Amino acid sequence: MSLKEEIEHRRTFAIISHPDAGKTTLTEKFLLYGGAIQTAGAVKSNKIRRGATSDFMEIERQRGISVSTSVMTFHYAGKLINLLDTPGHRDFAEDTYRTLTAVDSVVLVIDCVKGVEAQTERLMEVCRMRNTPVIVFINKLDLEGRDPFDLLDELEEKLSIKVRPMSWPIGIGATFQGVYDLYRKGLRLFDPGKTKVEAMSERIEDLHDERLVARIGDAPADQLRQDIDLIEGVYDPLDITAYRHGRIAPVFFGSAFNNFGVKEVLDAFVGIAPPPGPRPTDQGEVLPDDPKFSGFVFKIHANLDPNHRDRIAFLRICSGRFQRNTYYRHVRLDKQLRFATPTNFLAAQKSIVEEAWPGDVIGLFDTGNFKIGDTLTEGATFQFRGIPAFSPELFRELVNLDPMKTKQLDKGIRQLTDEGVAQLFTQQPGNKKIVGCVGELQFEVIAYRLEHEYGARCSFQQIAAHKACWMTSTDQAALDQFIRIKAQQIVQDKDGNPVFMAPSSYMLDLERRNNPEITFHTTSEFKTEMV
Ligand code: G4P
Repeated sequence: MSLKEEIEHRRTFAIISHPDAGKTTLTEKFLLYGGAIQTAGAVKSNKIRRGATSDFMEIERQRGISVSTSVMTFHYAGKLINLLDTPGHRDFAEDTYRTLTAVDSVVLVIDCVKGVEAQTERLMEVCRMRNTPVIVFINKLDLEGRDPFDLLDELEEKLSIKVRPMSWPIGIGATFQGVYDLYRKGLRLFDPGKTKVEAMSERIEDLHDERLVARIGDAPADQLRQDIDLIEGVYDPLDITAYRHGRIAPVFFGSAFNNFGVKEVLDAFVGIAPPPGPRPTDQGEVLPDDPKFSGFVFKIHANLDPNHRDRIAFLRICSGRFQRNTYYRHVRLDKQLRFATPTNFLAAQKSIVEEAWPGDVIGLFDTGNFKIGDTLTEGATFQFRGIPAFSPELFRELVNLDPMKTKQLDKGIRQLTDEGVAQLFTQQPGNKKIVGCVGELQFEVIAYRLEHEYGARCSFQQIAAHKACWMTSTDQAALDQFIRIKAQQIVQDKDGNPVFMAPSSYMLDLERRNNPEITFHTTSEFKTEMV
């Protein structure tokens, strides 16, 4: 196949949801359709179950699962599909945000009982930053969920995206009978006993067709006619270009557990989801069909064996052809590297790849060369943009409990933060280390891994910090002065950029008002906006 054909052949995406909405269940059904697994129950939930076993064993279990399911590759309807896994626990949300930079579209799962939940909103914010196309699957229609019109309103309101229903539920929970497919004009009936194969559909183009009443009964047929009238009046038809620009999201209803409505989503996905697209760099966009190879690292995974400190760096290929045993330029280090054992993850088994194409994700054996966001090229000096650092929500000072192990602690915390486990900020004088995380559990992971992998014991001390703010200003003198005056609250991020550690939201507002010439950003994504 030519480079263009290889690109057109691929679809790279992630399934995202608030924990428990049904991401794992939907993933498993997709893999069954793709023939990548043979039996239900083969995909393990990567949720961290608190209290089930010792938290630390649970963390190791989760890390084991997340290596083997990081990228699930399967074939469906003539396409090669790369499904990137995202962590199931809220405390590891930042890992998910980064994974979203490596996909070309997402499927968002919503629980019809709970509607749009906190994590859904945050994940969608990240998708909106780069206009990632979204397909919505409203799940668990077999349960007593909320009114579907309410759910659609909530999606539009909370996620700031237009929606377009592609199917419509008939009843809900105990009265759920199936869906009407608005595009193929067919009725698909739900039979919870027969969930191995997708339900057969019957074409009913005219909703006054008497077969409709015969199938679902008088009152539900009436209701369906009213609902469909309303839908056609209120919602615009699906415009594929608008979908591909992340402006409108097609919405499907179903039940992942009962394998109802799943194939529909997969079929729509292969039909409309975009192939690998252009990517922003600090020197303009790189097109996937640029014959010269380029890619970026969006995730780093440490070896599970503490005696081997090597790691796997996950590289998303953005342009050209990657080849094994070929020298490529590591742009940040200005170093030539070649890889003897790049791996892919086909059928959840790692195997060595000879070549890979845009949209593919490969694992590179790493002895410490990579940081999240690093670019590899065939010689060019550009760096990919758009791997944002978000302000963490919790900050603690790292306290060394064993002065004899200072070196190990320093090295350990640097490597763990390069891996993206947490963010590290340093403060002078004194080289004070402040670790920022999204959730409490991450501090436990860091302390555990520092001790077991680096032999360094530490504790974390509370500090007064609310948000980490990166700063920009058109008035460099004013910015320099602010940094000087606020030295007590200025720290450095891992790249040496000054960051204002706002002690409270009140103080942040105050500084914003007092320093109108300075812009305070709670993500480092503004660097992309500036390109
Ligand atoms: P997640 O990855 O998004 O966190 O969710 P997951 O798929 O693990 O699903 C969360 C729970 O919701 C699971 O139940 C799962 O069986 C259930 N579920 C998924 N889809 C449906 C559906 O269509 N209808 C209903 N009624 N339930 C659904 P669990 O009891 O937590 O786990 P398990 O014991 O079933 O594995």
